Amino acid sequence: MKAFSEKETNPLHSIEQWEDEVLNRYPEPNAKAKEEYRNYAAPARDTVKEFYKLNHTYQSLDFVKEKRKEFLQFNRKEMPVWKAMEFLNTLVDDSDPDIELDQLQHLLQTGEAIRRDGHPDWFVLTGFIHDMGKVLCLFGEPQWAVVGDTFPVGCKFSDKIVYPEFFISNPDSTNPEYNSPLGIYAKGCGMRNVTMSWGHDEYLYQITKDYLPEPALYMIRYHSFYAQHRENAYDHLLDDHDRKMFDWVKKFNPYDLYSKNPVAPNVKELRPYYEDLIAKYLPKTVKL
Ligand SMILES: [Fe+2]
Ligand SMILES: [Fe+2]
Repeated sequence: MKAFSEKETNPLHSIEQWEDEVLNRYPEPNAKAKEEYRNYAAPARDTVKEFYKLNHTYQSLDFVKEKRKEFLQFNRKEMPVWKAMEFLNTLVDDSDPDIELDQLQHLLQTGEAIRRDGHPDWFVLTGFIHDMGKVLCLFGEPQWAVVGDTFPVGCKFSDKIVYPEFFISNPDSTNPEYNSPLGIYAKGCGMRNVTMSWGHDEYLYQITKDYLPEPALYMIRYHSFYAQHRENAYDHLLDDHDRKMFDWVKKFNPYDLYSKNPVAPNVKELRPYYEDLIAKYLPKTVKL
């Protein structure tokens, strides 16, 4: 890979900026006005486009295998979950602080929205931790290898994935082995046998897989897989179990997308509740 400038590597002003594009694609049904969310202005759009160009060019099966080898050793840091959230919160973007919520605020708002609707406590906890994998950014990973829509690698890239035209520069798109709808997979093989593009979803799934109920793990692992949970573009890879579990992923997605609110949650007040949830389900420390 050639050497890139910082702007070429990380075109987004904030790692949340790609979600402007997601909100643009999937606006909240029956929402009164979109002014509550940031205006999706042209320069921002170019930035997001540049981001997806990099993402779609470099997220190949070989790249994902490399990243899995590198990060699934969990040999970087070990700390309590709440500390990991505070660590995530040290992620500083050059975005407008007036409109940008920090990571902890987004996570608390997601968790609180799920709690308000009376869902089980593990669902609330899932909302609270679902983006913890973004600590990858703090290990020097480029934005396009941490956030953005995720998709299967090793088979044809669906044209239901945002900016599908950028896959033309991905080496896998000209590899005949990977270039059919099934590619290296068997029909209905189940998502557990499918390798997804690398990012914060898969990383956190690998950290939490032994501790949370199955629906929670699907929410964590596939929350950015819009081509499936919104477009059903990869039905041919799913098995019956996946189909059941994707109902949970669909249930989770609106909380992630539409719970953002300019009123910052009271971290100090909420902390004991979330510390209890963490203690109930997760080990004392996690390895990153
Ligand atoms: Fe996320
Ligand atoms: Fe999120």
